[in-house]
Parts: sequence; C-alpha cells; structure tokens
Amino acid sequence: MRSFVSHLECSLTGRRYEHDRLHGLSDDAAPLLVRYDTHRIRSALNRNAVGQRPHDMWMWRELLPLDTDTPVVSLGETVTPLVSVPRHRAQSAGSVHVKDEGRLPTGSFKARGLAIAVSMARRFEESELVLPTAGNAGAAAAAYGAAAGMKVHVFAPEDTPQITIQETKFFGAHIRQVDGLIDKCGELARAAATENGWHNLATLAEPYRLEGKKTMGLELAMQLGWSLPDLIYYPTGGGTGFIGMWKAFIELRELGWIGDRLPRMVSVQTHGCSPIKTAFDSGHRDVLKPFEPVTTAVPGVRVPKPLGGRMILSVLRASNGHPCAVSDDAVFRCHADLARQHGIHLCLEGAACLAAYQDDLAAGLVSENDKVVIFNTATGLKSAF
Ligand SMILES: Cc1ncc(COP(=O)(O)O)c(C=O)c1O
Repeated sequence: MRSFVSHLECSLTGRRYEHDRLHGLSDDAAPLLVRYDTHRIRSALNRNAVGQRPHDMWMWRELLPLDTDTPVVSLGETVTPLVSVPRHRAQSAGSVHVKDEGRLPTGSFKARGLAIAVSMARRFEESELVLPTAGNAGAAAAAYGAAAGMKVHVFAPEDTPQITIQETKFFGAHIRQVDGLIDKCGELARAAATENGWHNLATLAEPYRLEGKKTMGLELAMQLGWSLPDLIYYPTGGGTGFIGMWKAFIELRELGWIGDRLPRMVSVQTHGCSPIKTAFDSGHRDVLKPFEPVTTAVPGVRVPKPLGGRMILSVLRASNGHPCAVSDDAVFRCHADLARQHGIHLCLEGAACLAAYQDDLAAGLVSENDKVVIFNTATGLKSAF
C-alpha cells in the first residue's frame, strides 16, 4: 500500500485530522483539505515520468488520496482537449483556449470529483450516497454510484434541467425535486444523511471531490508544457473547481514542476446570482449572507451562499484575480455566437466565461496579448435550448 497523503487539514483552523477514515466537515464546520508529503512525492516521481503514463485522470495517482493499490471506480476519465478559439486580431501574441470538460463521462467536469469521492467512499465501505445538485453532479454521482454498486440519493431544485434529471434517473439513482434552491437541497441531503447513515457527497462537505477537480489544474499545466496561462475564467457555483485548481498549482509549485508565476483566477457568475462578486466588492472575507433574489437561468452558478466562499475569495486575492458577473443575455449571445461562428458548443456556464472575457477585454482588465483559458464545464448538449 502506498499513499502520499500526510493528513487532512481544517481549511479554517489548520487543525490536523487522520486520513485513515472517512470525514465530513471539520469540528469547526469547515471543509477539510487533503495534504500530501511533497518531499516523498518528489523523490518517488518526476513530471516527465507522469507525462509518459496513459493520458487520463489516474496519471496523477500519487497526488490523489487513494492508496496506489486501491482499485478506482473509473468510467474512462480522459484528458480533456484545449480547443483554440480563433481571434479577430490574429496577429496578437495572446490566445484563447477552451478546456472542454464536456468530453468526460456524463458530459461534465463533475465526473472528476465524483470518480475520486465515490472511489474513496467504496474504499471505506460506504454503501449509500446522498447529495444536492444543480444537475450535473447528481448525474455523475448516479453513474459512478452505479459503477461502484452503491445506492445514490439526489436532491435537486425543481427547475433543474430535465436532461440531467432524466440522466440521473436512467443510472438508477433516486431523485427528489425540491421547491427551493440548492441550499435547501443541501439541508435536506444533510438531514437524510444523518437520519439514514448515508455518506453525504455535497460540495466541500467531504474532502475528496475537491481532489478530483484538482486534476483540471494538474492537467492544464502538463498540456501547456508545465507552464500556466495568464488568466483562467471559471464558472463558479460551489467553487470546487476554482479552489481545486489553485490547490493543484500550489502543489505543482511545491514539487518544483512549474515555476513561480501562477495565473490570475477569474470567478465567473451572472447578475442573477453573484454572491462572490458582491462579497469581493464589499471587501468581505466570506459570503456573509445568501444572494437574493436568484434569477439567473444558468444552473451551475445558482448557489446563493457557497460553503467554500471564504476559500474562493482568498484564491481571488492570492492570484491577483477578480470576480465577474455577466448578464444572462450575454451568456445566450456567446452560446449561440461561438457555435455558429466557430463550431464550438459551450454549455451556458462556459458561455458565461466567454461573456466575462469579452467584458474584461472591453474594460481593459485583460489584454489581447494574454494567454487565456476558459473552462467549458459541460457539453453544450446539457444546456436547455
Ligand atoms: C456545468 C457546470 N458548470 C459550473 C458549475 C459550478 O461548479 P463549481 O461547484 O466547481 O463552482 C456547475 C455546478 O453545478 C456545473 O454543473
């Protein structure tokens, strides 16, 4: 058995927790972070050896929480492509690439987090899982749960896109649609977990989905020849990907696999749900109250008070990044424009990132000479027409 995990750490207090059993939040009700022994990783492995492995999510095994001999629950988590978006001023030094997470099992980046979280749940002999979802996480949990032989229970808002509801049911999960937003679903999932002894896989309520999402950042660094773009635009709901990617960059830097220059991280939300921008603009260190009223049609960002708000805001500050809020109209315009002009079908959340990039370009917050990566977190086919 070989694990490079040293311990789990409370993201609020820094208190250490053992990693040999399944945890939820810390005793201070904050998310737990997985910490690795980077010295040991460095002597066991170098980046060239990793680059020569089969290109999938498991090439990062030493930087993931599973012991190296624990079987993983996998549905084929391929490295996702960086698709170039042609620019109007082709002579500029910069570039825009879409990292297309729609190529993953169940058509979204949620596969990454749930592949790891379900693998860890199976390793600790859990048999029933529960989670709240805006749609894609429920579908991914249902698929990985089916692959692991586990029962999955999902709570989703009533206005969740039908395509993900149907997909979740198709994988055999039990789904309950709730009159309310994801925070209400989160409360119901928590209560159901306590009452029935199910394992709660809600965003950041357990430490391992974050580790799966971290692979987006590891992969990006490898794809760019162990360097990073100037800016990353990421659609931020619960923020696991945002926080996870930053964690990846810090770990890669500690390993000496990348240099010191890290990207400016841009969290993208919409005017109809932008708690991160509201908190950042008010100088707050956390999201203090739920954003209301939530009016956006972009499902992935309908999170009025993310549990990881403090960590998202701290990544924004540490990376010299900024939050963006765009209109739903701009999202729909970018969604259609990119498809018709370039044949790239983004999901609405990915289109929000493109809209934010265009706003930033117009406002001079980003330059034509910058290298930019936009995260398309799901296939366009998941977005309602
Ligand atoms: C397509 C899509 N993009 C973005 C998000 C937000 O992701 P995160 O929780 O990592 O902020 C979600 C979450 O539901 C989503 O489904």
